[in-house]
Amino acid sequence: MMEDIKKYQKAEKLKKQREETQAIPWYYDGLENLCDRIHPGSQLLKITDIKALSHDTKLFRLISAKKNKPLAPFRAGQYIGLIVEINGVRTSRPYSIVSSPNQLAYYELGIRKKEDGFVSPYFFENAKVGDIFEVTEPLGNLSYNSMFHGKDLVYIAGGCGITPFISMLRDISERAIPLNVSLIYGCLTEKDILFRDELEDMQKRRSNIKTNFILSEPESDWKGECGFITRDKILNEIGSIKDKYFYIVGNLPMYQFIKEEMKELGVSKHRIYYEAFGVPDDITQVMGWPTEINSSKKVNISIKFRKYSKTEKIEFEAYCTEPLINSLERTKNLALYVNNGCRSGECALCRTKMISGKVFVPPEVTIREVDKDFGFIHPCISYPLTDIHLDLTLT
Ligand code: FES
Repeated sequence: MMEDIKKYQKAEKLKKQREETQAIPWYYDGLENLCDRIHPGSQLLKITDIKALSHDTKLFRLISAKKNKPLAPFRAGQYIGLIVEINGVRTSRPYSIVSSPNQLAYYELGIRKKEDGFVSPYFFENAKVGDIFEVTEPLGNLSYNSMFHGKDLVYIAGGCGITPFISMLRDISERAIPLNVSLIYGCLTEKDILFRDELEDMQKRRSNIKTNFILSEPESDWKGECGFITRDKILNEIGSIKDKYFYIVGNLPMYQFIKEEMKELGVSKHRIYYEAFGVPDDITQVMGWPTEINSSKKVNISIKFRKYSKTEKIEFEAYCTEPLINSLERTKNLALYVNNGCRSGECALCRTKMISGKVFVPPEVTIREVDKDFGFIHPCISYPLTDIHLDLTLT
């Protein structure tokens, strides 16, 4: 008996010592719960604040809409897919988290109103404090990786592409991470620059963060640099490409332009990480598009899917100039939702088995070899050139 008491006291003492020396992380409450916390799949968020960032961009602050359900942690540079239902169409769009990853009381998103867009004008005009939205867990690979990226980083942002960099810079600044960062930020005019005060302030306070704004359509009183982000301007800013790692975030035309400049500068592909949200404004202008295809051509899409335990089939028409996922979402009586995140071919969340047919995918999109080999497509960035047969029962 005495022996048992002694053993118990020893075990208790050891446990106490362990607890004192190895603080259990605040989020640790069992491995399963930890996994759920990091990968909740989806989350319900409530808007608590909205403020203007510029004439066409608003900042939305969102908290968890469920008590006792904290927000999923994220890496600076990640995004969430915001799911909305507009006139019976359920769809989603990816938005970078601009807030710092060092606090999880809220996420902040900077959303620019794209005039001919579907989701952003709706969200911009209609979303109000108190509204609740479903979002994905944080996604995306635009994050600093100390193993491969080194210490000298170059961030190149176009317009709203600044949003993930704000979170990354806040992280570096708040934790005083010893990295040297040159941010080259291109906008049309001065009024399009987002987070300008904060960026200028960061530059003043942190000697390892440099910021340069370049305007392509400046007013006559603009004292900074003008034009596009060319190789000369990049070199002028960073001195040399040696040991630098480049992150580029912007739209597709900007990517195509910068890609050529990077080639001319001699930056190897593995020293560049690129992220572009969204699809080309006009797919018929993208290199490799089969010009013999009439842009108003419609094709027939047939989809096999499972409803409860039954297998069903549905057919509908789609334009060949629209990504398959958009046609699918707009087919209202379909009541099918294909899981998605990036909507630009990167995350593979939307991967779908194509039984037959031919699709066009912009050449800069990299589809995983294994998906290609087994006949999976990413409908978010696939344009149907012929009649298509998809099978959603095979994932
Ligand atoms: S939604 Fe990410 S690949 Fe399609």
